[in-house]
Amino acid sequence: MSDIKATVVDHPLIQHKLTIMRKKDTPSKDFRQLLEEIAMLMTYEVTRDFPLEEIDIETPVAKCKAKVLAGKKVGVVPILRAGLGLLSGVVNMIPSARVGHVGMYRDPATLKPVEYYCKLPGDVAERTLIVVDPMLATGGSAAAALTLLKEKGAKNIILMCLVAAPEGIKVINEEHPDVPVYVAAIDECLNEKGYIVPGLGDAGDRIFGTL
Ligand code: URA
Repeated sequence: MSDIKATVVDHPLIQHKLTIMRKKDTPSKDFRQLLEEIAMLMTYEVTRDFPLEEIDIETPVAKCKAKVLAGKKVGVVPILRAGLGLLSGVVNMIPSARVGHVGMYRDPATLKPVEYYCKLPGDVAERTLIVVDPMLATGGSAAAALTLLKEKGAKNIILMCLVAAPEGIKVINEEHPDVPVYVAAIDECLNEKGYIVPGLGDAGDRIFGTL
């Protein structure tokens, strides 16, 4: 795994919640709730280096200088459909973030990802985009989504996933070396059906109860 580059956000709370998500008997309601909570905790780490500036404020006791985020504009872009499961957690932490959506499907003939939906904030070039998708498996859809966002003008992108296969991280590192990757876990491998092993199954189905 030494040739792949990703930040593993291995806080005990995240690891505990992820283990519950992995269990096959965890119901959709709990799965969704845990995913939202992990998204909030991961956002804390993803935004760690966001710059601050000092402003003048007045507390009930005294005037002082205090820190606020330095006008950094953020966009959150879930990759449909499973990425929607991470959206509320990120937006809870960054309420001023604008939300874009990217939909990709895999062409059954070519096996290549194809865009079927894209709606982004108009000022996408001025925003730091946090692209969210719970499962980074082959990396094909995520890499295509990142390419699409760059074609639309995005200059500053972070990819945030829950569980990744080493293969998927490698694809993102190679095709988008400028995009930092944050994950809660790097699993063993992909199986012959493209599922992450041990993973947690189909994240979209588990979020939306479409099993
Ligand atoms: N997408 C999923 O939802 N799960 C996997 O294991 C791989 C891709």
